[in-house]
Amino acid sequence: MDMTGTTARTPSGHALSGRTAIITGASSGIGRATSLTLAGAGAAVVIQARRADSLENVAREISGRGGKVLPVIGDAGLEADIDRLLDEALAWDDGGRRYDIVVVNAGRGLLGGILTSDAAQWQDLYQVNVLGATYIMRRAGQYMIEKKGGDIVAISSVAARNLSPFGAFYGSSKAALSVITEALRRDVASSGVRVTTVMPGIVLTGFQEVAGYNAENFGNAVAPFGKLLEPSDIAETICWLLTLPPHVNINEIAIRPTGQVYP
Ligand SMILES: NC(=O)c1ccc[n+]([C@@H]2O[C@H](COP(=O)([O-])OP(=O)(O)OC[C@H]3O[C@@H](n4cnc5c(N)ncnc54)[C@H](OP(=O)(O)O)[C@@H]3O)[C@@H](O)[C@H]2O)c1
Repeated sequence: MDMTGTTARTPSGHALSGRTAIITGASSGIGRATSLTLAGAGAAVVIQARRADSLENVAREISGRGGKVLPVIGDAGLEADIDRLLDEALAWDDGGRRYDIVVVNAGRGLLGGILTSDAAQWQDLYQVNVLGATYIMRRAGQYMIEKKGGDIVAISSVAARNLSPFGAFYGSSKAALSVITEALRRDVASSGVRVTTVMPGIVLTGFQEVAGYNAENFGNAVAPFGKLLEPSDIAETICWLLTLPPHVNINEIAIRPTGQVYP
């Protein structure tokens, strides 16, 4: 168990062996669990985040289980860091000097609505959730069209479609991401590239603290929903959709705790 109460489950088998996956925001939460799960399924993983210590810990966990991993410290909101991430993946011998899967996961929340959220954080939120995400998807899409295949999975949110009582402005960034991801799907579909929008409900991760939620208020609000999602629930869903036959593309998926009524 980690600090978020997560037990990362790594499926046995080699469903993804021979494939190389890039995962952004891999130092905690959903990105960490996805990195462990995809590596456990045989993928070589290139993982990115800003916090070096946490990222190195995830890398050690993966290599300790016999997985292939390349940590690349960087900011998923900065074009230069995204370029370096993709270049390092293409130069990595253990990953076959290629990449087949990109999980666009790095992102952050923000407490409040239009009137109440901290406007000083709007730019930072859009930089990573929308602009950085779009830039990596554009570059990966161009590369995958050339090699006529690949998977791009973007982590949006149920808050993209359902106004969240916790963070309506945050939801606007995920609404933009969902539209951009579907637009990308249309750009690349005829080249055999699959694109999936994953919209999680409430997952207990570092997200709530970064967003600035008051732990007690948040706990009271979600208590009626029962058991919340764990990062591994999202990771296993991603792993499943990546292992479907190449002609099957799950375009989008909403995944909530069973008891979650809203958003
Ligand atoms: N938790 C939920 O309830 C929930 C629900 C729906 C969607 N989501 C989405 O799921 C994704 C993952 O969030 P999480 O719940 O796993 O939260 P988390 O535990 O806070 O993880 C966020 C990850 O993103 C990274 N990150 C944030 N800004 C970054 C940046 N500028 N550059 C590189 N990495 C950055 C963080 O690493 P560093 O700080 O080390 O850079 C961290 O690894 C986010 O896009 C979030 O919006 C979460």
